[in-house]
Amino acid sequence: MRVAVLASGRGSNLAALLEARSRGELPVEFVLVASDKATAGALRLAEAAGIPTLALAPRSYPDRRAFDRDLFTRTADSGAELLVLAGFMRILDGETLAPWVGRMINIHPSLLPKYRGLHTHRRALEAGDREHGASVHFVTAELDGGPVIAQARMAIQPGDDEDRLAQRLLSHEHRLLPAVLALLATRRLQWQNQAPQLDGQALTAPLVLGEQGLQHAE
Ligand code: GAR
Repeated sequence: MRVAVLASGRGSNLAALLEARSRGELPVEFVLVASDKATAGALRLAEAAGIPTLALAPRSYPDRRAFDRDLFTRTADSGAELLVLAGFMRILDGETLAPWVGRMINIHPSLLPKYRGLHTHRRALEAGDREHGASVHFVTAELDGGPVIAQARMAIQPGDDEDRLAQRLLSHEHRLLPAVLALLATRRLQWQNQAPQLDGQALTAPLVLGEQGLQHAE
């Protein structure tokens, strides 16, 4: 499966995808890594891995829709069948993304539907939550609101602050995102009737990341 990755930042989730592919666990071809930030670490990682890159500056466009249209046109031109948002920090225009619904996933650092948007670690701490986590979901026009495919959960520990929590969660994210992408790449996970389907059955609750990989929730 031909995959494009969109990323705005350092790219540790992209690095995890590249490593999973090198280990032979991810039957995909990365055809493009695109960013809204020319300085994104993700672009340097892609270059080092020999993957075509694209950096587009939002300020060069009259509005969000014009930027998104160009980004999605070029992404489609790369031959990508599937888009992975791995730390892509822009809200996407609903009309522009519509043709990609079911073919685009995002990793978000919270146990959705909790804490859509920004500052998820801080919000979990401020709420006194005992548990935190990350979610991978299909992207729809609703911000961080598309159907959740899988989650990684972890306990919040005494003494956790925003940075510690974010750092610890990242190691879970780095297992979660490749695991979900592998399900899509092998076509076990599909988008049918506006909903996720796993092995031909509707996915009624998010999968959970355990020691052995993704499992059905108990
Ligand atoms: C990750 O924690 C990811 O979950 C988050 O940005 C970070 C990117 O890190 N994504 C979002 O907040 C999306 N709303 P990375 O650049 O090292 O992969």
